[in-house]
Amino acid sequence: MSQPPVIDADDLPEGDEKVRAVRAMFDTIAPRYDLVNRVMTFRMDVGWRRRTVRDLRLGPGSTVADLACGTGDFCLELERAGLRPIGFDLSFGMLASARTTAPLAQADALRLPLPDASVDGVTCGFALRNLVALDGFFDELARVVRPGGRIALLEVAEPANPVLRWGHGIYFGSVVPRIGGLISDAAAYRYLPKSVAYLPPPEVMLGRLASAGFVSVDRALLTGGISQLVTATRVRPEWA
Ligand SMILES: C[S@@+](CC[C@H](N)C(=O)[O-])C[C@H]1O[C@@H](n2cnc3c(N)ncnc32)[C@H](O)[C@@H]1O
Repeated sequence: MSQPPVIDADDLPEGDEKVRAVRAMFDTIAPRYDLVNRVMTFRMDVGWRRRTVRDLRLGPGSTVADLACGTGDFCLELERAGLRPIGFDLSFGMLASARTTAPLAQADALRLPLPDASVDGVTCGFALRNLVALDGFFDELARVVRPGGRIALLEVAEPANPVLRWGHGIYFGSVVPRIGGLISDAAAYRYLPKSVAYLPPPEVMLGRLASAGFVSVDRALLTGGISQLVTATRVRPEWA
C-alpha cells in the first residue's frame, strides 16, 4: 500500500498542522537531505553557508546558536571558522543524521531553551518559510542574542529578473521535485518551491526585524537572487 504524502504542497498547512507536517517531512527526508541539497544546488549551498558565517563578523570563540540546524552543515562551517555553535532543530530525524561534534538539542526555534542575551550570534539556514510565526521568531532572536550580537539568516528567494525567474521556476517547480523523488521523497521536494509563498515581502521582513530590536538590517542577494542573506545587529541600549 502506498504511503500518504508527508506534506501536501497544494494545500500549504498553517499553525499546529504546519508544525506537525514540517517535522514529519524532515524526519522522512533526513537520511538523504544533504545529498539532495548538494545535487539540486550544484553545491552552491556550501558557498552560501560560508558567506553567511563570514557575514556574521563575530570573533573566534563566539557562541552561535544555529537555529533549525538540520543535519548540522552550519555547525560544521561555524566550527571551521573558530566559532562555538550549538544546534537546535525540531526534527529528531534531522538531528540524528547530523555529522557535527557541536552540541545539539531538539527544540522549537520559537521557544528556545536559552537564557536572555546568552549568545553572541545566531545563524539560521533555509528555515524561515517553515516557521509558523516569523514575528515570534524575530522576537525570540532579540531575546537570546546579546546586545551588539549578530544574526545571519539564509533563505531561498525568487530572482527579480523575469528571465531568471522563469528558468528558476521551471527548475524548482519541475526538475527539483523529480530529483527529490528519485533520491528521496517527491512530495517533500514539491513543497520546497511552493513554501516560498510563506515568506513575506523583503521590506516587510526587514521592517519587522528592526521593530524587534535589530539595527544595520541588511539583505544581500546571492547567485542572481536565487538565495538571500539577511544580516542584522542586536541593538545596544546606548544606541536606542
Ligand atoms: C531546509 S532544512 C535546513 C537545515 C539546515 N539549516 C541547512 O542549512 O541545511 C529546515 C530545517 O528547519 C527545521 N525546522 C522547521 N521548523 C522548525 C522550528 N519551529 N524549530 C526548529 N527547527 C525547525 C526542520 O526540522 C529542518 O531541519
